Amino acid sequence: MQIKTVGVLGCGLMGSGIAQVCAAAGYKTIVKEIDDALLQKGLGRIRKFLEDGVTKGKVTAHARDSTLDRLTGTTTFDAMAACDLVVEAIVENLEAKRAAYASLERVLGAHTIFLSNTSSLCVTELAASTKRPDRFAGLHFFNPVPLMKLAEVIRGLTTSDDTYAQAFAFARSLGKEPINAPDRPGFIVNRLLVPYLLDAVRAYENGLGTLEDIDKGMTLGCGHPIGPFALLDFVGLDTTYYIANIMFEEFREPAYAPPPLLKRMVLAGRLGRKSGRGFYQY
Ligand code: CAA
Ligand code: NAD
Repeated sequence: MQIKTVGVLGCGLMGSGIAQVCAAAGYKTIVKEIDDALLQKGLGRIRKFLEDGVTKGKVTAHARDSTLDRLTGTTTFDAMAACDLVVEAIVENLEAKRAAYASLERVLGAHTIFLSNTSSLCVTELAASTKRPDRFAGLHFFNPVPLMKLAEVIRGLTTSDDTYAQAFAFARSLGKEPINAPDRPGFIVNRLLVPYLLDAVRAYENGLGTLEDIDKGMTLGCGHPIGPFALLDFVGLDTTYYIANIMFEEFREPAYAPPPLLKRMVLAGRLGRKSGRGFYQY
């Protein structure tokens, strides 16, 4: 099947990046948010990234304009009826994702492939909640999507060979380097990354050092591009908290349990860069 029109559910941190790379790769792209304010915020993020790219000499003015021309924002599921493939990038919550798939299935054709950008949920369980468990797979991008080269492709128990091959080919068509990842919580990258981030929070709570010193330790000492607290703020503390709960629920190992400080920061609305304050102030 030829994929011409791509739908992206959610225009938050990840959905905006995913919509941008889909449109940049030549797909007619329709991105949906829950209301106009959030949609405009997400589309603004895309415009800013492309503008900055032009300023830095990384994106041509033509590429910026043609990417934006191929991109449409919407707040209705009806507007997604023509999509051949949908990438879902809404909040990391099983019930919210299930409800969104049910609404999508009311308007979409049977041929449409669903790919979830979930970080930690069970792909087989997500697939089973749809009427197309064979045309469903995980496609896990990394933040910031336009810059990070990796995409994990996850096969649920019911994903057909054809769907899996199409998800792989789709990731490549976006300029990503796809890898096979298992349908286990956190797949490959988050299985290793999330315990590290949670451990950093626990160590900080236990007085290991200042935020700045711990971050400096991991950047200058290990060559990481940013330290764990800058990365937590970048990913979003709410999203990290949801991921930790999901991974802990499945593995029942203390390494995945969300530290008390993380929970309290989320409850206080300190979600990281996206809310203006997390471990650091922005
Ligand atoms: N348009 C085009 N290119 C751009 C750009 C733009 N708007 N902005 C930056 N770039 C390019 C730069 O030109 C530069 O390219 P070169 O390497 O060719 O010079 C490159 O992108 C890096 O940009 P900068 O040097 O300006 O930025 P930086 O050095 O501060 O790096 C970063 C930014 C790449 C995000 C870096 O901080 C980084 O790698 N951080 C870690 C990110 C990470 O770990 N992400 C994964 C999170 S976990 C996840 O996503 C999974 C999950 O489920 C939670
Ligand atoms: P986010 O909070 O920035 O964005 C989620 C967006 O989805 C919100 O703007 C919300 O309004 C919107 N939304 C919720 N329900 C919707 C619906 N029914 N229709 C359309 N939009 C809806 O979160 P995010 O960081 O972009 O994460 C989204 C997904 O991507 C999650 O599954 C997360 O685990 C995954 N993910 C996140 C990262 C990261 O670094 N933040 C990396 C990889 C994967």
